[in-house]
Amino acid sequence: MNNDIPILRLEGIVKTFPGVRALDGVSFNVLPGEVHALMGENGAGKSTLMKVLGGIHQPDEGRILIAEEPVVMTSPIQAKAKGVVFIHQELSLADELSVAENIFLGELPRKTFGRVDWTRLYAETDAILKTLNVGFNARTRVGDLSIANQQMVEIARALTVDPRAVIFDEPTASLTDAEKVVLFDVIADLKTRGVGIIYISHRMEEIFKITDRISVLRDGEYRGTLVTAETDEDKVTQAMIGRSLDLTRSPLQHEMGDIALEVRGLECGALYQDVSFSVRKGEVVGFYGLVGAGRTEIAETIFGLRAPSAGKILINGQEVRIGSPIEAIRLGISLVPEDRKGQGLVLGMNCRDNMTLPQVDDMTAGPFLANGAEVAIFDQYRDKLDIRTPGWRQQVGNLSGGNQQKIVIGKWLSMHPEVLIVDEPTRGIDVGSKSEIHNLIRELAAQGYAVIVISSEMPEVLHVSDRIVAMHNGRITREFTSDEVTEDSLIQAISGIASDKVA
Ligand SMILES: Nc1ncnc2c1ncn2[C@@H]1O[C@H](COP(=O)(O)OP(=O)(O)OP(=O)(O)O)[C@@H](O)[C@H]1O
Ligand SMILES: [Mg+2]
Repeated sequence: MNNDIPILRLEGIVKTFPGVRALDGVSFNVLPGEVHALMGENGAGKSTLMKVLGGIHQPDEGRILIAEEPVVMTSPIQAKAKGVVFIHQELSLADELSVAENIFLGELPRKTFGRVDWTRLYAETDAILKTLNVGFNARTRVGDLSIANQQMVEIARALTVDPRAVIFDEPTASLTDAEKVVLFDVIADLKTRGVGIIYISHRMEEIFKITDRISVLRDGEYRGTLVTAETDEDKVTQAMIGRSLDLTRSPLQHEMGDIALEVRGLECGALYQDVSFSVRKGEVVGFYGLVGAGRTEIAETIFGLRAPSAGKILINGQEVRIGSPIEAIRLGISLVPEDRKGQGLVLGMNCRDNMTLPQVDDMTAGPFLANGAEVAIFDQYRDKLDIRTPGWRQQVGNLSGGNQQKIVIGKWLSMHPEVLIVDEPTRGIDVGSKSEIHNLIRELAAQGYAVIVISSEMPEVLHVSDRIVAMHNGRITREFTSDEVTEDSLIQAISGIASDKVA
């Protein structure tokens, strides 16, 4: 294959939705064997562009060329037949079906007389799964898999054809480090086979690790293509948001009050044991550890989603039993969950109702009053979190992935909790909004909230926390104040290396 002929070329692509010019004349090309990053803020148009390329949306203007031949993509199946496969940001699997059926959906291998050839189906699926090194098989029901494993099923689905171009839309958002390694191997392999790869992610370190070039969108406009080896994070950020970011920690210092939440000897079966910590009013406590260390499960216990097998929870010094999220909310506890898609949103409902859903109880003073109050809440958090939508009437399902997440964050903030727990607050959020959310977390603490931030990103934890709790394998290994913590000591603490052995 000639390496100079782009495998894909986009020319002047325009796409509008009611009230939104999502793409405004986007042109760039992808070479064979290239990993091409597509970057831009939440709502910049990345997923829309890929949906145009993948046959899901028709462009209003512009052309798509494959190996310099103009093509029209009228459906995902047709795009796939032309060699363009798409791994979506939103998972689109059927929970009730097996892994194999999901992977070959619409294309199940058949015997004569049209019966599904189950033996072949399972064998072919297991062969693909083997290359991905996953811990489930062709017969597993998709609904029983973790989000990360469902993501791996999406990836497996793309590998059933011999693709010419593969689009990954935020593939690593919910993968563990080990799964990321597998994904990057898959990408390296596609690359050596001359496949063109488009890679969307908000994680700069990944972009600089695996991509060759970076194209940037801002508000639907194409802002140019940079060669990864010749640029840096600051230049990419500039192109994305039009300014540099000040990443120094906000100097906001404030008084801390009494202990708002205390946990003593909490245990939940094999998930975590002997967990004790406290959070003061005005304090941000960061929970850092590897995926699977037990942090999310602790949060779920405090929010009434999991019953503890031992230990106590105290709110404002009073021991409490929290049997359900409703009881947690009554006690002033909010949880912004990690899986915001599954636990946070009703996609067919509008933005305002999604945001104000948990508090309808408080607002039944009268239909008109309630309406106005809810819109006011929505407007307030739209400004605070910079949510990009034409208005509150927009269905949440039509917002970009990152903006959907901001709606969930707004929903829990708007309840003015005393104790706010946020699990991976900036996953899928662009760099600019990320620093806004960090500032917001510091601000909330200054207003007297007790905040717990669970994060797998060390810079994030270091940035927002007054105190850091390190976890390994279901246990707290160490606690640090923000003055004493160092990156090395934190890494040791979460990998379970006893500090006395290292010192
Ligand atoms: N089906 C739709 N109907 C109406 N508006 C839409 C639809 N799909 C996307 N949009 C709008 O188009 C714009 C671009 O959205 P898109 O999903 O492409 O952003 P993105 O760059 O992928 O963002 P993110 O990083 O948050 O995933 C947004 O303003 C979004 O609300
Ligand atoms: Mg997107």
